[in-house]
Amino acid sequence: MAIQRTFAMLKPGVLQRRIVGDVMSRFERKGLNIIGLKVMVIPPLVAATHYAEHKGKSFYDDLISYIISGPVVAMAIEGDEAIQLVRRLCGPTAVCESLPGTIRGDYCLHTNHNIIHSSDSAESADRELKLFFQPNELVSWIDGNVGWY
Ligand code: PPS
Repeated sequence: MAIQRTFAMLKPGVLQRRIVGDVMSRFERKGLNIIGLKVMVIPPLVAATHYAEHKGKSFYDDLISYIISGPVVAMAIEGDEAIQLVRRLCGPTAVCESLPGTIRGDYCLHTNHNIIHSSDSAESADRELKLFFQPNELVSWIDGNVGWY
């Protein structure tokens, strides 16, 4: 087993659409553990840091405007191969490539409102978890069903 921690974020609009529970339940049903959770409005400087690698790209300004436009739900998720599993549950960035059954495939119409972010590598996960959570805000716990997934 390779237990990993990853960062995921429900983007603005998810709270307003009242689908937070539906989306988060997909991670729970899979057997992943939510070990950190917060509702926040991302300060512009934090948004710029989070998306620094995309500065200069055509969609950068829209991406920043979207991500600071309302409250997000930041999540730390733990489990075996959590980084890749969470990415696959989200579906590809481009909404037209996201299959039904994935979060983006089921809840999004437009790529520029693709409702969820998740870390794409161990390095990104580490950096993003540190950007959004203090160490004492992450709580590992043991799942009594751990042998059944
Ligand atoms: S790239 O160029 O391949 O590195 O970009 P990509 O990884 O596909 O996307 C980087 C983040 O930008 C978001 N994105 C967009 N936002 C707004 N409008 C458009 N058109 C757009 N295209 C991509 C994409 O969802 C990625 O953000 P996160 O938060 O990681 O999903």
